[in-house]
Amino acid sequence: MVRVGVVGTGGWGKNHVRVFNELHCLAAVCDMDQARADTFSKNYHVPGYTSLEAMLKKENLDAITVCTPATTHFQVATQALTAGMHVFIEKPMSTSMKDGEMLIEAAKSANRFITVGFIERFNPPITALKHMFSEGKLGEPILLEFHRENRRGLGISDVGIVKDASVHDIDTACWLFGEAPKVVYARVGAALAPLEHEDFATIMLGFSGQKTAFLVTNWITPNRVRTMSAVFSGGVVDVDFVTQQTSIHEGATTTVPTRPFQEPLMLELKGFVDAVGEKRQPLVTGKDGLNVMRVAEAALASSTSGTPVYLE
Ligand SMILES: NC(=O)c1ccc[n+]([C@@H]2O[C@H](COP(=O)([O-])OP(=O)(O)OC[C@H]3O[C@@H](n4cnc5c(N)ncnc54)[C@H](O)[C@@H]3O)[C@@H](O)[C@H]2O)c1
Repeated sequence: MVRVGVVGTGGWGKNHVRVFNELHCLAAVCDMDQARADTFSKNYHVPGYTSLEAMLKKENLDAITVCTPATTHFQVATQALTAGMHVFIEKPMSTSMKDGEMLIEAAKSANRFITVGFIERFNPPITALKHMFSEGKLGEPILLEFHRENRRGLGISDVGIVKDASVHDIDTACWLFGEAPKVVYARVGAALAPLEHEDFATIMLGFSGQKTAFLVTNWITPNRVRTMSAVFSGGVVDVDFVTQQTSIHEGATTTVPTRPFQEPLMLELKGFVDAVGEKRQPLVTGKDGLNVMRVAEAALASSTSGTPVYLE
């Protein structure tokens, strides 16, 4: 059985703990906050640590997941790779492309893999949409339009919304189209306090041919919106990431396929554990994480300069 340690048991890491426990892979937890380490250790009957070094030394782990704030990802992941772990890094992979490149090098040197928490690839309607892209029944894909909006939560905000949230949709767009964008144009800004990072971003990605993605992300809209539309030459597919409902519009006909609800995090972490157990690359590679960082940084640069950024 694959043995996983979860580093960071805060707002999101607690879900990793729960899911790995359900998968019978949870071997240890680590949180620099003693109270959290103790609570999760007690509730899940696994050793709890406040020091990553101690956990890596004492537990015979195969892998860890990094669920700490983005600014700590580089240091935590590097330390774990050096200790021979496969590493799942929650998004964003790092806070800069340079750090992302160094993580890929560190993984290569350690002969281990890194993967990044682009959970939407595992969301059942997106998996189904990916099949529709491959089958080509709806014709040529033209436009992807994403809306990821909600009022800012009380959680961490050590990076702005582009690296925190738009990265999900950047990855989904690249994955569905099967390529990286050639040009990025964006307008970002800070509208509501605290203003140290941008809290809204509108990003346009130009892919080969006429393929385009339009991403609207903000921490301003009071209600939670997580939707996308995929426009093909022969129809339109609307997806709600939260309800997992898909509506397929062809001419005047709309079909709503029925599919059992499945927790995306369960599918994502099961995929990670399987990859570790089978000693193969997971669906999301370190290179994918780096590609998303490249696009995120291009979006921020485009907004600063007011001009498109060409990536080739
Ligand atoms: N995939 C998703 O949908 C999704 C959703 C929410 C958050 N996230 C990501 O998960 C990560 C964590 O976010 P969060 O909201 O849980 O943050 P959080 O602030 O709620 O929790 C972070 C936890 O990490 C601990 N911590 C910080 N530095 C540490 C270190 N060096 N060693 C051990 N523990 C440390 C803190 O004590 C805290 O308990 C972020 O990268 C975030 O972007 C992903």
